[in-house]
Amino acid sequence: MSERVYIFDTTLRDGEQSPGVSLNIQEKLEIAAQLARLGVDVIEAGFPITSKGDFNAVKAIAENIKGPAICALARTAEKDIDRAAEALEKAERPCIHTFIAASDIHLKYKLRMTREEVLEAIEKGVKYARRFTDYVEYSPEDGSRTDPDFICRVVETAIKAGARVINIPDTVGYATPDEFGSFIANIMNRVPNIDQAIISVHCHNDLGLAVANTLAALKNGARQVEGTINGIGERAGNVALEEVIMALRTRKDRYGFHTKINTEEIYRTSRLVSTLTGMKVAGNKPIVGKNVFVHESGIHQDGVLKERTTYEIMNPATIGLTVNNIVLGKHSGRHAFRERLKELGFNLDEEALNKAFERFKDLADRKKEITDRDLEALVEDEIRRVPEKFRLEHIHISSGNRVVPTATVGVHFDGQLVEEAACGDGPVDAVFKAIDKITGIAVCLKHYALNAVTGGKDAMGEVVVRLAVRDKVFVGRGLSIDIIEASARAYINALNKAVFDFGDEIVGETWNGNGNGKGE
Ligand code: KIV
Ligand code: ZN
Repeated sequence: MSERVYIFDTTLRDGEQSPGVSLNIQEKLEIAAQLARLGVDVIEAGFPITSKGDFNAVKAIAENIKGPAICALARTAEKDIDRAAEALEKAERPCIHTFIAASDIHLKYKLRMTREEVLEAIEKGVKYARRFTDYVEYSPEDGSRTDPDFICRVVETAIKAGARVINIPDTVGYATPDEFGSFIANIMNRVPNIDQAIISVHCHNDLGLAVANTLAALKNGARQVEGTINGIGERAGNVALEEVIMALRTRKDRYGFHTKINTEEIYRTSRLVSTLTGMKVAGNKPIVGKNVFVHESGIHQDGVLKERTTYEIMNPATIGLTVNNIVLGKHSGRHAFRERLKELGFNLDEEALNKAFERFKDLADRKKEITDRDLEALVEDEIRRVPEKFRLEHIHISSGNRVVPTATVGVHFDGQLVEEAACGDGPVDAVFKAIDKITGIAVCLKHYALNAVTGGKDAMGEVVVRLAVRDKVFVGRGLSIDIIEASARAYINALNKAVFDFGDEIVGETWNGNGNGKGE
């Protein structure tokens, strides 16, 4: 029997530290539930001391998600650990992950502590965390740049104090595979009590070496991998879990490990994380990019038709990617629609199914061939609706290369139809300005991205926007064959989320005689 590698997911903690990403509790719960279906061993749900929102999210995940251990991050200070323990109170298997940096550069410039003081903090912090749970993980931050002799003392101290998992982070993504492999081997060979803990690794991707470093560490004794879905995270991100998992599975001949991951959930998990964070997956991203199983060259197409393995090293079905390209059309009935959704893993209640079917019919009138990707986009858009303070009714634009772009937008505002017009730098800008006049919400557009869901002239456009409202960022998503309409839908979706979060107090903040949202 091959040895097991444990999968520790930090999408909701390190992943959420990606610039511009901010998830609300519902979104975090949805991702956590999907991670449980994926079969990860540990979900790092957040860093409770950092904010009330983080605390509440960890608490909600601890209360609701069963299966994986639920982990909370804390520095070695008692107040951090208390807050983590409190958030984890209801978890089936709570894990406290405590950390303090160990490299000289961090000790000198950031912590202003001596090595002896750091060892003392580790011992105290780990022992204190053990009062709440026997499942304590310790990380020497900037581990890979720590002196190899000192890291052995650090690891020995943490294990002696009661840590069950020691995580070695390559915090700044500086290590190279041969170097990181030797670094782990040094720890495995020289720490006397190493048999009492599991070594985990946490590689950042600044040099694009995160997967290679992780695999090198596994070759040298590590047995847990920490990373995120789609590789999101600080700066260049963390190691992409789906890449490590599929490397271990596809090249079992080289590595000889297994995980408990249900790989058929990989694609869905990737999509969900991308949708909710608003971080698009590049087409050529390994495993989950949309080009990964597409063969453009005639020679390749011919080879795959004769024998799939000529040019495909993985079967798309193993990551849960269906290859049914044209499924439904205008004449398809409700039953066929429901069955196809079930096959794609969506079990909608009657109300959501009815709404999704209505939108499907609407789309089928405008688009001849509806693929699985269209269905996924449409249903995800439908099931994730927040209460609609604002609902798009109509748009009219006048635009061209020699006219000032102008938009007239009609929005149902608390059920009443309100119309406003505005000029802008382009038609999308004009539409957003007209919506701003209607809602009176003070927003700043941080990000706008347009993506075609499938190929072809009649492809649906998917727009993702990130809007800053007060101190928070809201991701909005809109779908339509018309990209101006998709933009307006995305913008309104983000505004509805902001109202859902802050309440009505943000509405009308910018009305000062330039319209008051009721068209008066
Ligand atoms: O990158 C890092 O060092 C971390 C630690 C908190 C594990 O994220
Ligand atoms: Zn990290």
